[in-house]
Amino acid sequence: MCGIIGYCGKKASSEVLLEGLKRLEYRGYDSSGICVDSPEGFKIIKKTGKLKNLLSIVPERPFGHNGIGHTRWATHGGVTDANAHPHTDCTGKISIVHNGIIENYETLRRLLKEKGHTFKSDTDTEVIAHLIESCYKGNLTKAVLEALSLLKGTYGLVVMHQDHPDVLVGARNGSPLIMGIGDGEMFLASDAAAIISYTKQVIYLKDGEVVTVTPDGFQTVDLDEKAVEKDIDVVEWEAEAYEKGKYPYFMLKEIYEQSKSIQRGMNGRIDMELATGHLGGLNMTPEELLKVERVVIIAAGTSYHAGLVAALLLENLARIPAHAEIASEIRYRNPIIEKNTLYFAISQSGETADTLYAMRELQRKGARVLGICNVVGSTIARESDGGVYIHSGPEIAVASTKAFTSQLTAMYIFTLIMARLRSMSYEDGSEFIKELTAVPAKIEKIFRNVENINIIAKKYCHTESFLFLGRGLNYPVAMEGALKLKEISYIHAEGFSAAEIKHGPIALINERTPSLFLVPDDRLHDKIISNMKEVKSRGGKIIAVAVENDEAVKGIADDVIEIPRASEYMYPFLMSIPLQFLAYYAALELGRDVDQPNNLAKSVTVE
Ligand code: M6R
Repeated sequence: MCGIIGYCGKKASSEVLLEGLKRLEYRGYDSSGICVDSPEGFKIIKKTGKLKNLLSIVPERPFGHNGIGHTRWATHGGVTDANAHPHTDCTGKISIVHNGIIENYETLRRLLKEKGHTFKSDTDTEVIAHLIESCYKGNLTKAVLEALSLLKGTYGLVVMHQDHPDVLVGARNGSPLIMGIGDGEMFLASDAAAIISYTKQVIYLKDGEVVTVTPDGFQTVDLDEKAVEKDIDVVEWEAEAYEKGKYPYFMLKEIYEQSKSIQRGMNGRIDMELATGHLGGLNMTPEELLKVERVVIIAAGTSYHAGLVAALLLENLARIPAHAEIASEIRYRNPIIEKNTLYFAISQSGETADTLYAMRELQRKGARVLGICNVVGSTIARESDGGVYIHSGPEIAVASTKAFTSQLTAMYIFTLIMARLRSMSYEDGSEFIKELTAVPAKIEKIFRNVENINIIAKKYCHTESFLFLGRGLNYPVAMEGALKLKEISYIHAEGFSAAEIKHGPIALINERTPSLFLVPDDRLHDKIISNMKEVKSRGGKIIAVAVENDEAVKGIADDVIEIPRASEYMYPFLMSIPLQFLAYYAALELGRDVDQPNNLAKSVTVE
């Protein structure tokens, strides 16, 4: 969602801030702004809309070496220039950028108004600036600490004060904030993407930590002002990993990365000799894993769809009862925590509020929750009781693609471990590994025929509604295909079990509502063919994703996307790739902003 960048050092801060904001665009935003120091006082420039609107009004000559910047995704107060960050106090000497939500801001605002403070925006954030003003007695850090003690809610924030031209104060509670350490310069940011072109040395702040940063150093304290020692981490990825390179959109780049990202997720985690997997981060012994009687997976959006596939696989292969639940639902239904149930929180960003809060609620009730995350050092990764990084590399496009297949990879390896501890034979384990390790090459094969998908996307993208239909492991893949299409092309799409449509959705079928069927050559193949015939006989157009040379499918479908043959368990990988391309090409043809679709944010850090 919102993005933060702060800089103090020798460079022209406006350049660093604008570059950082550019790299934060992917998070989703509707206005942006910067504040930089200058001999005449703060220069604050903010504007609604895309960053180019802000760039068009920033003076060419950059001023100041200290500054803060922000991309805002509106929550409290409309999308206006006045509501864009940074926000200032009455004196104009204190400036702040903030991610998160201040829950008691209305009370505080009323109290501050009674004391004579005047407000220029409708935001909750501005309250923080005025609170710091009322607490300020010459020491900025102390004023911030005192103000924070009065706040209820979540924040990642950075503050600057005109009387402290070399100082930034950052604080975190529920919204990520990291510190970047440079040579005679320091950065504060909501994520590494903003600062990666300057430094790879970072410090992840924890909730309840406040840091005071100068160009040459930093001091971290907790909310009681006790000093906190911090370790320096090195960001795993090079700056290029955060760039589009030769691709027009991050989404396309990330789709094409999948043969490599899946491979990376398997590296060092497959034991050919024992025909099992190895996931050290689980922090569980084989004895503990054997005691697991049920697996529950919590997640949102695409990660939830990966969880649905994983639950089916676990039941099928490891014979453990398993199900996936939408994180935002589990949290508020007072879930029963059973002994010997193992929970997973799947999240690309590791910051999704719905998933994080659900995880905390489960942990509070005594559950062991393992995290399946992509972003290293993210909150879910740190607060979970163990887990696995999926190593898919930075995912910048709002539409999740490579994270999905990497999440599957991690959960497939976990399933292998669980199955081999139970009833799966050595031979079956070896066969499963052979099939799983063959997936990247099969995906490469799909890449060779994407022009066909482009043609199909162009043919159907002017339709108003789409059905995605699959069965078994591919039913969640159908849901994922529908999500992908709707979020970036804005075509209405729904995913259903192919068998279920005759119980209702078939009423929607006509020549203007195409159905996309996922047709693997597994035991449900003939059943799906029957479902296709039901649609066909009602005049519906059919696109099928099917294995090469499936004549039965070719005889019914209007258009076919062919994928390589595989074992039935591997089709979720192979089926999802064409659906990602279909959504991409449809959005492209319709002139959509592929990487930053309407109203969406990459990491949804509010409930
Ligand atoms: O970072 P997470 O995996 O927790 O994010 C969950 C969803 O917000 C995310 O998958 C969302 O649905 C994507 N935009 C889908 O492409």
